[in-house]
Amino acid sequence: NVSAEQRRFNEIIAADSRIEPRDWMPDAYRRTLIRQISQHAHSEIIGMQPEGNWITRAPSLKRKAILMAKVQDEAGHGLYLYSAAQTLGITREEMTDQLITGRAKYSSIFNYPTPTWADMGAIGWLVDGAAICNQVPLCRASYGPYGRAMVRVCKEESFHQRQGFEILLTLMQGTAAQREMAQDAVNRWYWPSLMMFGPPDGDSPNSAQSMAWNIKRFSNDELRQRFIGMLVPQAEVLGVTLPDPELHFDEETGHHIGGEIDWSEFFEVLAGRGPMNAERVRARRQAHEDGAWVREAAAEYARKSAARTEE
Ligand code: ACO
Repeated sequence: NVSAEQRRFNEIIAADSRIEPRDWMPDAYRRTLIRQISQHAHSEIIGMQPEGNWITRAPSLKRKAILMAKVQDEAGHGLYLYSAAQTLGITREEMTDQLITGRAKYSSIFNYPTPTWADMGAIGWLVDGAAICNQVPLCRASYGPYGRAMVRVCKEESFHQRQGFEILLTLMQGTAAQREMAQDAVNRWYWPSLMMFGPPDGDSPNSAQSMAWNIKRFSNDELRQRFIGMLVPQAEVLGVTLPDPELHFDEETGHHIGGEIDWSEFFEVLAGRGPMNAERVRARRQAHEDGAWVREAAAEYARKSAARTEE
């Protein structure tokens, strides 16, 4: 007993075509998109903090200009994504409120500290590399505004990944202390970057439905596997070691197989108990409070401009 609307929706999905904001969609599809897109937006916004930490201390004017541009790109990604989520009927205020009251999820990866300059390299190479691997298939997501936002986001992410690689390459060609700093950053970011892809397929409650709706195109483990395969040759060029003694090439499957991920660490971070969770949410809440006067002034300006055009 399928309604005509549901049938139309099913046809669009079966044809691998796109759902647009004014199309009818099942409530669960809408809810899953709001969930994923808002979490993604929050990740971009919270993701400005670990790198923002180094803007004042970047080692040269050129590095500082690049880092500022990159952090601004992340703000832009967050804004496109909030806009895409708004087309589904949630407001920006609701999403912001969920984030600053600690009720919203955002990527586990941004709950780790950035103690050294080499972290800027490791974040670009590993974190943005993982983000691209996960997000390129999302360019084909069935929800139009999300897929289209991903196209531009991925172009910018690939620039970010290159700049991170280049920071590490420069350090690896430097002094022994610089090489050590680069390796130390890779050691700290490698495992958390693998966790970005989400829990193993068997423990991923949303994957099957999201794949049936053409939101996700590959499973968490498939993308994680693809990412490791990309990293191995790049690590060789850099001259860094991936901190997994069990990592080896498996002739039979043609894949690089690694050791077990520490999922207890992942679930601790998701539960809000990672090294930087409290600080990230505190800083975001503070920025929101400090920005209240800007929002008030903008609203007042809009009100006065509207009154003036009415005259
Ligand atoms: N960090 C925080 N939460 C996570 C992570 C992670 N790395 N991985 C999974 N989760 C959460 C899911 O959001 C989900 O929570 P919820 O049901 O309470 O909403 C739960 O763990 C179970 O996971 P899955 O069932 O696998 O969830 P899903 O199908 O949504 O897959 C994934 C998770 C792969 C992260 C997906 O949401 C996605 O592709 N999101 C878009 C990409 C993104 O958000 N990237 C952000 C980091 S990249 C960047 O900002 C530079």
